[in-house]
Amino acid sequence: MNVLQINSSARREASHSTRLANRIVQRLRDADPDATLTLRDLGLKPHPVLDEATLGALFTPASQRTPEQAARVALDDALIAEIQAADVVVLGVPMYNFGVPASLKNWIDAIARAGVTFRYTEKGPEGLLKGKKVYVALTRGGKYRDTPADSQVPYLKTVFSFLGLTDVVFVYAEGLNLGADAEQMAINSAYQQIEEAVHPLAPAKAHVEMAELELA
Ligand SMILES: Cc1cc2nc3c(=O)[nH]c(=O)nc-3n(C[C@H](O)[C@H](O)[C@H](O)COP(=O)(O)O)c2cc1C
Repeated sequence: MNVLQINSSARREASHSTRLANRIVQRLRDADPDATLTLRDLGLKPHPVLDEATLGALFTPASQRTPEQAARVALDDALIAEIQAADVVVLGVPMYNFGVPASLKNWIDAIARAGVTFRYTEKGPEGLLKGKKVYVALTRGGKYRDTPADSQVPYLKTVFSFLGLTDVVFVYAEGLNLGADAEQMAINSAYQQIEEAVHPLAPAKAHVEMAELELA
């Protein structure tokens, strides 16, 4: 099993979404110790924005690209190759100003490529990243689950489905900025969701202990 982990928090050590994504990966590895992991930290190493020069490079036939254009397309090619090779994709996604981090949007802009990860057919668009499992660890200061203010989940469902990624599990850690008790409850709940969603056959570990460890 090839696992691709995408972190998108701007934070490093203190990031809840990265810790939760790490936990999901850990549980996947508990189930399959031979699983390989490719880690892409978009906060640590941001992917460049889709600008006019990039569009020009993408729409120039490969044989006619300048070295600069070829280098820019190669950056996107690398991200596409990573997700194509993955059986499971694990994302850590904070809410920033009611949306996904710009770093994650840049990643999505890089992997969504016509003819490669999706194509248009007579019957409509077809996603080409099929047969993969996706886990998304969402972290929010407030609480928006199942409300119109949650712009992240509908967006991610739409874009993933467009790319053929239809088996998506969302893990929510909400209310992280609503005080210490609310924060602890949110983390405990997220660990419980991970236990239930990622590794249902394994004996449930003491998720509360794990969550306390995480906050320590
Ligand atoms: C720039 C910025 C914008 C944020 N915007 C929101 C927001 O719109 N809604 C919300 O509930 N929380 C918001 N938060 C809180 C984060 O979602 C929360 O702190 C989360 O834990 C960040 O993820 P991380 O722990 O992985 O870094 C924001 C935080 C930052 C730093």
